Amino acid sequence: MNLVLMGLPGAGKGTQAERIVEKYNIPHISTGDMFRAAMKEETELGLQAKSFIDKGELVPDEVTIGIVRERLGKNDCQKGFLLDGFPRTVAQADALEAILADLNRKIDYVINIEVNKDILMERLTGRRICKQCGATYHLVFNPPAVEGTCDKCGGELYQRADDNEETVANRLEVNLQQTQPLLDFYNQKGYLKNINGEQDINKVFVDVDQLLGGLNA
Ligand code: AP5
Repeated sequence: MNLVLMGLPGAGKGTQAERIVEKYNIPHISTGDMFRAAMKEETELGLQAKSFIDKGELVPDEVTIGIVRERLGKNDCQKGFLLDGFPRTVAQADALEAILADLNRKIDYVINIEVNKDILMERLTGRRICKQCGATYHLVFNPPAVEGTCDKCGGELYQRADDNEETVANRLEVNLQQTQPLLDFYNQKGYLKNINGEQDINKVFVDVDQLLGGLNA
């Protein structure tokens, strides 16, 4: 199962990814998570990425493509993978085709979570994430049972630095510019599957699961 998860910032990629990888037992490869881990460790990659992420800009293609190439070459990806937040430009999509061709693999589905841009600001500014296990919550749409505490592991919840209004506005604008050409690219290849991301979180997963069940059958 070789999957790509697409959607504007806040569409619900991370939320659905948690559920997909748990059920289908494939590695979750999120370029955003990889950059944030590198930023926390203050590695060279992290320092490089921080200047772009803090402004809501995309990290340059050559940097992003390099880390994905390395990650997809690891053993655990032989059973499949879920790419989340990559590719985000047509240049990245071209590079992914080349990486997979070298590995003798191909994409099964590109799952695009469709959400109107007008509701994304509220989703992102209200998002909270567990410091320990990375589970995602929302103050209104998906609150934890105890305020500030993760239901799954009891960890402390925090707000991502790029989830403030100003940065979110730029992230949305940047991503809106890149999205349509990428959707056209994957539509032409026949990989694209659109999912309604404006439903309840569990209903979105029912739709994704139905799609993936067909692939497994
Ligand atoms: P990244 O970490 O990928 O962030 P993003 O694309 O902006 O997406 P998010 O993680 O913010 O949103 P999501 O779709 O996962 O939503 P979530 O499920 O959390 O990238 C961060 C940065 O890294 C980029 O800006 C860029 O600088 C850099 N970067 C990363 N990849 C790159 C690449 N390929 N090239 C270049 N640069 C790259 O949900 C959001 C909230 O909504 C949550 O609170 C959730 O609980 C809630 N929610 C989810 N689903 C629903 C629903 N159905 N109904 C109601 N609420 C919902």
